[in-house]
Amino acid sequence: MTEKKVEIHRGLVGVYFDRSKTTRIDGKQGILEYRGYDIHDLAEKSTFEETSYLLLHGELPTKTQLSEFDKTLKNSREIPDGALDIINSIKDSHPMDVLRTAVSSLSSFDPETSDKSLEATLRKGIRLTAQVPTIVMAHNAIRNGKNPIKPNNNLSHAANFLYMMNGKPPSDLVSNLMDKDFIVHADHGSNASAFAARVSAGTQADLHSAITTGISVLSGPSHGGAAENVMNMVKDVGSPDNAKNYVESLLKSKQRVMGFGHRVYRSEDPRAKHLENGVQMLSKEKGDPSWYEILIAVKDAMEPYRKKGINANVDFYAGVIYHLLGIPTDLFVPIFAVGRIPGWTIQVLEQYENNILLRPLLHYNGEESRPYINIDSR
Ligand code: SDX
Repeated sequence: MTEKKVEIHRGLVGVYFDRSKTTRIDGKQGILEYRGYDIHDLAEKSTFEETSYLLLHGELPTKTQLSEFDKTLKNSREIPDGALDIINSIKDSHPMDVLRTAVSSLSSFDPETSDKSLEATLRKGIRLTAQVPTIVMAHNAIRNGKNPIKPNNNLSHAANFLYMMNGKPPSDLVSNLMDKDFIVHADHGSNASAFAARVSAGTQADLHSAITTGISVLSGPSHGGAAENVMNMVKDVGSPDNAKNYVESLLKSKQRVMGFGHRVYRSEDPRAKHLENGVQMLSKEKGDPSWYEILIAVKDAMEPYRKKGINANVDFYAGVIYHLLGIPTDLFVPIFAVGRIPGWTIQVLEQYENNILLRPLLHYNGEESRPYINIDSR
């Protein structure tokens, strides 16, 4: 069979499959904007609650709108006992597997699961934004043989997340850092997990199905799984002097250096510097600069790759921040998911608004057409 001339874009590299009014990424300039607002402004001046409102509603909220939204989030933090029972029954599984399963189970308890209207989907997305942190930390308590700590509605989204881990409110510095981390993770256009969520929405599957899909895809080491692997890499490197050899041996064996590279950014990921500042601040506060020094040594060893467009990405520093906050390494990817719920929700809403089935083609280059042969003649 003569191969038909077709243009194949493996990995859909460089392919625009739709339009979006949510997030603008300029990979060359290293620009990221949510609804036209620069990530640097949002990371320095906004909160996760305000940024989630912006992503979901398209405008920065007034004081009244923000306080209403914040109240709705706080009143939605609890998770049903049925979901806690499921978490308990799989408590020794990886936190991402528990999160995926528990979010999927929430569809059996949500009063609006079968309502796929834009309004109901938005309400479900807000509920999930509030519930996912509770799932992550309830599982962490249960797997350690403790009772989950009830959400504290006097605390912000970020502060409450850490409160549910430690049982005490974090310092303002730590709350602000966790809040900043959620802001920079909130959305990122058609990254693999958001694209997968859109594929689900494209078939008119409901929000819980789409976000369960997103969590599944995020768990891969090429995507959200990197933060956990960066921390494991930093522990393996052990000291700044060892970084150069470590990186060179990885690259020589054609392995990827975790926390580096990006499908879109050819210059440094604009989110990275906010988390690098966080690592510096926390290292000073904790009096433990060693991890930051190793990160910098790895970054220096990767210097020759900058001209190939391989720079530090959002996951390179995040892992060390979580480690310095005493968060177990296997919770690093779930933290990414906590921040990304508003982003997945708005990607699904945009898909619903002007829906089309996402069904690309595969160019067949297998066996030519051939007649069936009976088993006795094979
Ligand atoms: C996130 O898409 C998003 O927006 C994702 C994200 C979001 O907010 O949702 O930004 C979050 O997922 C960040 C990325 C986290 N993942 C990692 O840090 C894992 C390590 N990174 C790589 O696996 C890789 O960089 C990817 C997967 C992130 C991107 O890979 P691409 O775009 O498919 O690029 P590629 O694999 O084709 O690599 C191109 C070249 C290759 O060299 P050649 O074979 O052409 O000679 O660059 C090299 C690669 O070997 N390269 C790396 C590298 N990343 C790319 N070499 C060493 N280390 C790396 N990390």
